[in-house]
Amino acid sequence: METITRIHTMRERIAGWRRKNQSVALVPTMGNLHKGHVKLVARAQELADKVIVSAFVNPLQFGPNEDFDKYPRTFEHDTQALTRVNADAMFHPGAFEIYPMGHERSTLVDLPEISGILCGAYRAGHFTGVATVVTKLLNIVRPEVAVFGEKDYQQLVIVRRLVMDLCLPVEIEGVPTVRDHDGLALSSRNRFLSRGERNTAPKLYLALKAAQKRIQDGDTDYAAIQQNGMKTLEAAGFEPQYFAVRQANDLQPPRDSSRELIILVAAMLGKTRLIDNVQVAVVEKR
Ligand code: PAJ
Repeated sequence: METITRIHTMRERIAGWRRKNQSVALVPTMGNLHKGHVKLVARAQELADKVIVSAFVNPLQFGPNEDFDKYPRTFEHDTQALTRVNADAMFHPGAFEIYPMGHERSTLVDLPEISGILCGAYRAGHFTGVATVVTKLLNIVRPEVAVFGEKDYQQLVIVRRLVMDLCLPVEIEGVPTVRDHDGLALSSRNRFLSRGERNTAPKLYLALKAAQKRIQDGDTDYAAIQQNGMKTLEAAGFEPQYFAVRQANDLQPPRDSSRELIILVAAMLGKTRLIDNVQVAVVEKR
């Protein structure tokens, strides 16, 4: 497994594969790889001949008071993990390679409708940073397919939307969330949880499952379901930011005609911010 740090080297390697008619998948990450990332790589391997995993902690998507400096950088662990699963290359650029003029001066990709809601309301500029770096990575690699996790559901919706709006020639593939034995969604940030917090953390998923069951059982009082979710989490020791029932395709509030819904949550547990979501199909009323 080759580690590549320069855009021109990456492009040379891809050009060689293309000459042999091999297709390419991209799995964008910020490194610190866990089983969730590995699942994305496995899916990418089903979809293309060659799989590139990018590992770049993108400064543009972190707010001034967020954990950019603290974000775990585990290069050795990541190269070993990718070698084990037979990825073809890791793209591991420095910040200068991606933002030669400095990330503060970068051209931006902004999605006004969906960047400011849900997580975007608590993380100003975050999704503009994500959309910008994903667009750059897609332009560097030009893969047939790029694979993202449903764990970061709003991010997935944003990526699908920017690909449509900017006419990028790539398929976006979503992969279901990989969870720990007790339901907690795997995340690089879980390592920041104390032992007590780690015991509490699965209650986030339990609250989502309870809300999912209510909707599956025919309850359409989404305001009450949301309120109940917030209260349950507060009682468990979280500081919930939102607990929201939305349309799965565009994250807008449900309409009477909505069939595919998603319940999304973000909550602080001590100093750690956790997010999760579950999808739910509304039952047809007779
Ligand atoms: P990162 O948090 O490293 O996540 C990389 C990819 O792994 C994302 O598509 C994310 O949704 C997916 N992922 C994370 N945890 C997962 C889990 N438990 N199950 C399934 N998939 C999971 O998301 C980012 O990086 C960045 O914002 C990025 C898209 C790379 C842009 O910088």
